[in-house]
Amino acid sequence: MADREVRVGILGMGIVGCGVYQVLTGNADGIAQRLGCRLTVARIADIDWDRERDVRVPEEVRTTDASQVTAADDIDIVVETIGGVTPAREFVLDAIANGKSVVTSNKELIAKHGDEILDAAAARGVDVEFEGAVGGTIPIIRSLKEGLEANRILEVTGILNGTTNYILTRMTDEGLAFEDVLADAQRLGYAEADPTNDIEGIDAKYKIGILAAIAFGHRVDVEDIHSEGITQIAPADIDYAKEMGYAIKLLATARRVDGGERLDVRVHPALVPYAHPLAQVNGVFNAVWVVGEACDQVMLYGRGAGSLPTGNAVAGDVIDCARNIVSGTRNRIPCTCSGQAEIVPMDEIATETYVRMLVKDQPGVLGAIATILGQEGVSIQSVVQRGGTEESAEIVWIMHKGEESKLRSALNAIEQLGIVEDVCTIIRVVPA
Ligand SMILES: NC(=O)c1ccc[n+]([C@@H]2O[C@H](COP(=O)([O-])OP(=O)(O)OC[C@H]3O[C@@H](n4cnc5c(N)ncnc54)[C@H](OP(=O)(O)O)[C@@H]3O)[C@@H](O)[C@H]2O)c1
Repeated sequence: MADREVRVGILGMGIVGCGVYQVLTGNADGIAQRLGCRLTVARIADIDWDRERDVRVPEEVRTTDASQVTAADDIDIVVETIGGVTPAREFVLDAIANGKSVVTSNKELIAKHGDEILDAAAARGVDVEFEGAVGGTIPIIRSLKEGLEANRILEVTGILNGTTNYILTRMTDEGLAFEDVLADAQRLGYAEADPTNDIEGIDAKYKIGILAAIAFGHRVDVEDIHSEGITQIAPADIDYAKEMGYAIKLLATARRVDGGERLDVRVHPALVPYAHPLAQVNGVFNAVWVVGEACDQVMLYGRGAGSLPTGNAVAGDVIDCARNIVSGTRNRIPCTCSGQAEIVPMDEIATETYVRMLVKDQPGVLGAIATILGQEGVSIQSVVQRGGTEESAEIVWIMHKGEESKLRSALNAIEQLGIVEDVCTIIRVVPA
């Protein structure tokens, strides 16, 4: 083995930082054998070294000052596992300016500031890698950039958030309410104390924004991506979906439209037919389903979060960066985005849709609603009416594929009738 050593610094010794450290130190000999040089974790910056961790870091490697990593002459690769935008963005830009390759697991940072960071890296001739930012241990970014790169990608759809998939799975299997499973998930460590980013679809929005840019070669403005979470999903919806042969999943989807001129990128719950591979992805697991002109369908499946699974993805990027440093061939696969893609507004998107509503239990209600749907150009595929409470009935509609704007306008008109007590849930349906 060559005598060469590549020195790594880590920023943030939390869940992912600890996993990266464990993978790089635990399999140091195996990595050295494959890489042809030794990878040494030489310095780690964290603001709190008193906190209990599963791994023990030697005293001489620890610092509380990030600049001891980002500006140090003896560090070649900086791993950013702090999270959030501030101060992670500054640290990453500082490391790049100092000629270091950067590996990050920070989806928010890459989704919001990826263009700035990748441009800075290209100008400085260093690598920036971020496999751990999407799908935890699943090598989806590498697969899109390398294994599937000859192929024209048509669609990327994923279950990209383990917390929401865990909640929906338990609601489905155990008939529990959203709030009860969320509380349990928080107790078990599958959901954060503030779960907003997960349950409102924001985390999945960052991830699909990153995947859309890589799959379609255009940067996207993550703020233009429509996202909805799972807080509106009730046990009744899960039951109706089951009866009709669907699983409810939080899907993040990106596809080409208008011949590739614009992109349809969105995050929302969906009724997924049992026969679809994504319907079988349960618990904390993630999966990404890719459709390409040549490859047809490909699905990658694995743990979407966690210390070692994410540590594995980050460590893989570190090895890639080290390989480039040793061989002197940086930017092996640089940023492939050639422009900015326009995202189609949700109003213009056409889907099949499930709508559950509570209405006054009186004659003529069903007909009155159906009339308005017809007037607004919304076509009904099926309708089921059940007794709700003593005075109200529950109606579940499946609408044929139609534009979101027409459905919204019909529902507004229906609400004016005074016979609808609540439009409880609207869920898009993945065609069988
Ligand atoms: N957790 C996962 O399974 C997972 C999976 C995929 C991607 N990610 C992403 O990976 C990143 C890290 O997530 P995580 O779950 O590992 O977070 P975490 O457990 O909160 O770890 C972050 C660490 O950074 C430290 N830190 C905060 N400010 C710092 C500073 N200025 N200088 C040095 N250290 C600082 C924190 O210390 P304090 O705790 O004292 O603030 C903490 O130890 C996030 O972007 C996240 O979205 C996480």
